[in-house]
Amino acid sequence: MPMQPVTATDPLAHSGDVVQGNLAQLKTLFPEAFTEGKVDFDVLKQLLGGAVEEREEKYGLNWHGKRRARQLALTPSTGTLRPAPEDSVDWDTTQNLMIEGDNLEVLKLLQKSYAGKVKLIYIDPPYNTGKDFVYPDDFRDNIKNYQRLTGQVDGEGKATGSNREANGRFHTDWLNMMYPRIRLARDLLSQDGVFFASIDDSESANLKCILDECFGEENFIDTLAVEMSTTSGPKTVNAQQGTIVKNVEFVYVYRKSAAFDERPHTPLLDGIDFYDTHYSAWLNDDRTLGSLSDALLADEKIRADIIKYGLGDRDGFSIKSINKLLTLSDNAKTFIEANLEKIARIDRAPVSAQGRATEIGIWQSFEADHRTYFLTTLANGNLQALMPLSLNYRMSDDYKARFGRTVIRGDLWKGFHQDMGNVAKEGDVVFANGKKPIRLIKQLIKWSNSEKDGIILDFFAGSGTTAHAVMQLNADDGGKRSFITVQLPEILDPNDKEQKAAVDFCDEINKPRNIAELTKERIRRAAKGIKSENKAWDGDKGFRVLKLDSSNLHAWDATSATLEKDLVDSAEHIKTDRVETDVLYELLLKLGLDLCVSMQQRVVEGKTVHAIGGGVLMACLDTRIDAAEAEALAMGIVQWQRELKTEGEVTCVFRDSAFGGTDAQGRPAADVAKTNLSKILEQHGIANVRSI
Ligand SMILES: C[S@@+](CC[C@H](N)C(=O)[O-])C[C@H]1O[C@@H](n2cnc3c(N)ncnc32)[C@H](O)[C@@H]1O
Repeated sequence: MPMQPVTATDPLAHSGDVVQGNLAQLKTLFPEAFTEGKVDFDVLKQLLGGAVEEREEKYGLNWHGKRRARQLALTPSTGTLRPAPEDSVDWDTTQNLMIEGDNLEVLKLLQKSYAGKVKLIYIDPPYNTGKDFVYPDDFRDNIKNYQRLTGQVDGEGKATGSNREANGRFHTDWLNMMYPRIRLARDLLSQDGVFFASIDDSESANLKCILDECFGEENFIDTLAVEMSTTSGPKTVNAQQGTIVKNVEFVYVYRKSAAFDERPHTPLLDGIDFYDTHYSAWLNDDRTLGSLSDALLADEKIRADIIKYGLGDRDGFSIKSINKLLTLSDNAKTFIEANLEKIARIDRAPVSAQGRATEIGIWQSFEADHRTYFLTTLANGNLQALMPLSLNYRMSDDYKARFGRTVIRGDLWKGFHQDMGNVAKEGDVVFANGKKPIRLIKQLIKWSNSEKDGIILDFFAGSGTTAHAVMQLNADDGGKRSFITVQLPEILDPNDKEQKAAVDFCDEINKPRNIAELTKERIRRAAKGIKSENKAWDGDKGFRVLKLDSSNLHAWDATSATLEKDLVDSAEHIKTDRVETDVLYELLLKLGLDLCVSMQQRVVEGKTVHAIGGGVLMACLDTRIDAAEAEALAMGIVQWQRELKTEGEVTCVFRDSAFGGTDAQGRPAADVAKTNLSKILEQHGIANVRSI
C-alpha cells in the first residue's frame, strides 16, 4: 500500500469523534436500524416499542441553548496539546498530567486516549454565585476564543469578567457551560468509575438535573452534605435574627454503571467523644463472663484513680461513671485500649448462630460471615452475641484523626469547617477562588478507590487540591493512583482586591499572572512537602505539563475559513512555529495513546527517529528524506522495531514535505522515496505508513 497522506477527513486528523462512537455503539445494538450507513428512525422506533417519548411536553430540564450545548460536546476539537517540559517535573518517568487550557477542548482531546479509562472524576466548578467567572464557549471557533480570552492573541488579554445575575441569562450561561463538559467527562469514566461534583445552593438543583440526564437517574448514588462552616462569628448575628445561615455544601455522587457497586469501598469513620456504656461485659480468660467495672477495679493504679477522683470506692465502681474516669485517668484510657478484645457489648445473636448452645455465663468464640463473634447464654436461657469493642475502635477520618470509638459515616460529612479554618495555608499557594480542603478530596478517593490505583481527573483544578490529595493519599497508603488535572490559564487582575495577593504571588515566583501557574506551583510544592514528611515515600512526585493550542498542522485546522486554499498552498503542513515534540504529541492524541507513554529517540541514517509507547508509533519528522536514503532509513526503523518487540499495530509517520526534488532519472523523488519506504516497511509487517 502506498504511503497515505493524512487529509482533513482522516481519523488521524481529529480528536475523538463522539458522534462516530455513538453510531458504532448503536450499530452493535441495532444493526437493522442502519441503512447505507445512516440511522433509519422509523425502524429504530419500532425496535424500541413503547419506550419512545413522543409527547411535546417532556419531563426534564430545558433552557435556551441546550440543543447547542449538546452539539458542542459532539463537535471534535481542532486544537492540540503541546508539551511544556520546562514547566514539568520528572518528565520522563511521571504518570501524572497537568493540562493548561479550556477544559471543554481538553476533554474532547482526551477522548481517544482516555475514553473508559478514568476511575474517578472530582469537579469543583464555578458555583455561579454572581462573582465567579463562567467560561463563554464559542461555537464557531472555540480555540480562537480560548486564545483571545487567555491573552494569547490580540495582545494582553483581559482578566475575565463574572457572570452577573442581571445579564438575563444567568442560569442559562452556566448550564450551557456545564452541560457539554459533563457529557464528555462521563465518556472518560471506566464502567466501574465514579463521579463527584461539589456545588452549593446556587445551582444545585440545575446540576442535579443535568447529572441525572448525563449519567441516568439510576446511577445517582447520594448527595453528601458537607459541613463547611458553623454558626459562629458574623453568622451568629444573622442566626440570632432568625436567618437560616448556611453551614453545608453538597457533593453529588454518581457512578458510571452498576459495575461500581461490585468494587469494595472503604467505610469512613467519625470519632465519638464519649464511651458507650453498653460495652460493660468482660471476657475472663477462664471463659466466664465478668464486668468491666470489676476489671477496672482490679487494676491497682486505676483503683487508686477511682478513689482519688471520688468516682467509687475499693469495692464498687459504676460503669455510668466511666466517661468521667476516662477524662481524668490516663491509666484507665490505656487499660481500655489494651483490652479491646476482652471488653464487649451484649447483643442479639446473629441468625447464623441460631441453634447453637453454650453454657450459662460461659463465653465461646464462633466464626460467621468472616467475623469472629463470641456467644453466651444468659441466666434466662437466651443465646446472645458478645460484640467486642475492637470491632468499632478504629482510627477515625476526622480533622485530627484519633484512635478511639468510631461510627461509620453516612451522607452527613461533619467537621470540615475545621479544615476550612486552615485551608488558605494548605498547598502553600495563594488562591482566592474557593480552595477545597485536601482532606475532603482524600476521603472521597479513599471511600471509592480501595484498589489504590487508576487515573483521577479534576477538570476544574483551581489551586490543584485534587493532585495534592492524590499524592498525599498515595504517600499515606502506598497507592499508585495518578492524576490528570486541567486548569484554564485564567488571567489574574491586579486591580481586583481579591486577586491581588495571587498576582503578587505569581510575581514573586516569577511566573505569568494566571491561575494555571498557581496550580503548577502548588503541585511542585506539594510533592516536595509530602516527600520531606515521608522520607520513605518513593511514589510519583512529578507531572507532565501540556498546553492547549491550535493544531500543529495547517491541513487539520478544519475550521479555517480558507481551508481549501491552505491545503493547496501548504506544501509544508506543519506550522513553522512548532517543534517535533509538538507534532509527536498531536499524533499521540490522534492515535489514542496514553499521554504519559515512554518516548525514545535514535539517529538512523542521520535522521532522528522517535519510538513512542514502546514502538506503537514510529515517527521520523526530518525535513528531508531523499530517495537514496529511504531504504537504509526503512531498514533502520525495522531493526529498532524488532528490538522493541512491540505488540499490536504499529503506525509509522513521516513529514510529507520531506520527500522532495527529483531522482537520477528525473522522476519526482517524492514518489520514489515514499514508495520505497512504504514497501520495505510493509514487507516487514508495518502496513500503516502515513505522511503529514
Ligand atoms: C472553584 S475553583 C476550583 C477550586 C479547587 N477545587 C481547589 O481546591 O483549589 C474552579 C476553577 O475552575 C476554573 N475554570 C473555570 N472555567 C474553566 C474552564 N473552562 N476550563 C478550565 N478551568 C476552568 C477556574 O479558573 C477556577 O480555578
